[in-house]
Parts: sequence; C-alpha cells; structure tokens
Amino acid sequence: MHPDPDQGAPASGPTDANHEPPVTDAIERLCEEHHAILAVLDAIDAQASAVMKTGSLVLSIWARIVAFLQTYADKCHFFKEEQFLFPLLERRGISRIDRSFSNLHQDHQEGRRLVADMTTAVDGGERLRLANVARSLTKAMRSHLAIELGVLYPLARRMLTLDDLAQLEAAFDAFDTDGICEYVDLARRVCAESGVEFERHAS
Ligand SMILES: [Fe+2]
Ligand SMILES: [Fe+2]
Repeated sequence: MHPDPDQGAPASGPTDANHEPPVTDAIERLCEEHHAILAVLDAIDAQASAVMKTGSLVLSIWARIVAFLQTYADKCHFFKEEQFLFPLLERRGISRIDRSFSNLHQDHQEGRRLVADMTTAVDGGERLRLANVARSLTKAMRSHLAIELGVLYPLARRMLTLDDLAQLEAAFDAFDTDGICEYVDLARRVCAESGVEFERHAS
C-alpha cells in the first residue's frame, strides 16, 4: 500500500517567500522526469526520421524506447501523478481554479493508446505506421508535458503546503523502486544511439 499524501491535516500554510520549499522536492522530481522523457521524445523523432529515410527499423532501439515509455513514462511518472499529485490537487480545489485540469487524465490515456499502437507497429515491422504513430505520440506528449511544466506544476507550488510537498515526496519514495534508475540509463543509451543530447532539456 502506498502512503496517502493527504494523511493528516497540513500543519503549515501555503508556500511563500519566507517558506521556500526545499531545492529538490516532489515537484522538482517530476520536472526531472520530464527532462528524461523529453530527451527520449527527441530520440523517437530522430529514429522515426531514420526509419523513413533508410527504410530500416532497428528493433533493439525501438524495444528500448517502448520499455522506457511503458515503465518510466507510464508506470513511474504518469502513475505518480495520477495516484498522488492529481488527487491531492483535486482535494485542494484545483478544478475550481483550472477547468482544463481533467484533460491531463485524458492525455495519459491517449499516450497509453499511442504507445500500444507503436508497440504493435514495432512488433509487426510496420515502418510507415511506426513513423506516423511516433510523430503523433511525440507531439501529444510534448504538449502535455508543456502544460504541466508551464501551468500545473507552478500552480501546484502555489497551492500545496510544505507538508503537502513532504507527504508527496514520501509517497514518491515509497512508490519508486531502485530499479527506476536503470530506465534513466536506458534513456541515456537511446539518446546516444539517436544522436540526441540527453541533458538538453535539463534546467
Ligand atoms: Fe502527466
Ligand atoms: Fe508529468
């Protein structure tokens, strides 16, 4: 059972200039995951272009891409947002502030559908379908991540208390396994294989 980030009443008020959150907190952690995901999206675009240019589909690289998307982007990142961050923001009343909030859930479902479609195309060696679905996926994911980075996460920083952030961090710690670091290594490898600088999106 994962810890509930909303257990107990918050003891501190909203963050302000006198109560800056720690440099690395739950939101910063999600931002760092975005950086890794964005780098892999660039690698996907490079690989999709290569498929169309050369006509060859390097199965081993696409298998690594699919593994990263299914495990790191979905089971690690999306899941933490869906299970911990989004419900907490709902309880703090985000839907009254930002009516587009519910679209973020739908974006995750659409991302899962596109990754499943991509997996089918890879397994079947369907080059044109793979290139097309890869482009749809990278476009949809970039748009989703940009909304979270530009709107949702800053809003979360303003809405959540220091205790909220600490409880989120504890929930993330309990959820993430040590093995998740291997997927960051996998992302680095995919980027290197695709001529993409892994750190390009890091702030
Ligand atoms: Fe998300
Ligand atoms: Fe996210």
